[in-house]
Amino acid sequence: MLEVQSLCAGYGPVRALDGVSFAAAEGQVTAVLGANGAGKTTLLRTVSRLHQARSGSVRFAGHDLSRLPAERLPALGLSHVPEGRGVITELTVEENLRLGGLGRGSRPTAADLDRVYDLFPPLAERRDAAATTLSGGERQMLVVGRALMAKPTMLLLDEPSLGLAPRVVAQIFDLLRTLVREQGLSVLLVEQNARSALSVADRGVVLNLGRVVADEPAEVLAGDTTLRHAYLGF
Ligand SMILES: Nc1ncnc2c1ncn2[C@@H]1O[C@H](COP(=O)(O)OP(=O)(O)OP(=O)(O)O)[C@@H](O)[C@H]1O
Ligand SMILES: [Mg+2]
Repeated sequence: MLEVQSLCAGYGPVRALDGVSFAAAEGQVTAVLGANGAGKTTLLRTVSRLHQARSGSVRFAGHDLSRLPAERLPALGLSHVPEGRGVITELTVEENLRLGGLGRGSRPTAADLDRVYDLFPPLAERRDAAATTLSGGERQMLVVGRALMAKPTMLLLDEPSLGLAPRVVAQIFDLLRTLVREQGLSVLLVEQNARSALSVADRGVVLNLGRVVADEPAEVLAGDTTLRHAYLGF
């Protein structure tokens, strides 16, 4: 369980997070939704200690994350997949995956790689290809696969659907559901694409200008026309 309490963060005069509180339950997909500039990326980066909070607290699995450096988080079971699908393009698919296993402190095994290849068959086919040759969808699979190499209990995902064809988005979201159902993974999913995110999420937290304006089961948000029109763009 991830618990965010009264979190404030910003950039100079900009208040990007203004007292954000919510919890992301174990074994569920919690979507963080909201328009451009709502504070979604800042929230993920603050949770994973890549950005310094001004006040408030973040607790994960009994740990107060504000006391820990970012590089300690994978060992606690928290893996962050940042916006933008960054991979090391000079390395092969498999070399990129191996890097993901290092955060946990032990050498990645063949079994670890096979687990990811089972989840993402296109990566198995391209394992010796340079990462630069992958399509956008395959690259998204690679960054998620790389995060899974650290055997996280919670995955933080920033806009995985951005720029991908709807069919590919559906494929990636289906896979998230499978991981949640079969392995009890917890997911904090940041998305501007609220309609797709709510179709995969158990719960949704809506941000507007750095504040939580709704925190409800996904089907309640999806059925709330006023809120959808005001904040979710569909
Ligand atoms: N490096 C930065 N320097 C200054 N202001 C920033 C910086 N990064 C974000 N901001 C501002 O902080 C606020 C929240 O931005 P953030 O990127 O967290 O939003 P977001 O919800 O992820 O948006 P998007 O949907 O466009 O990714 C915005 O007002 C943004 O302009
Ligand atoms: Mg963002």
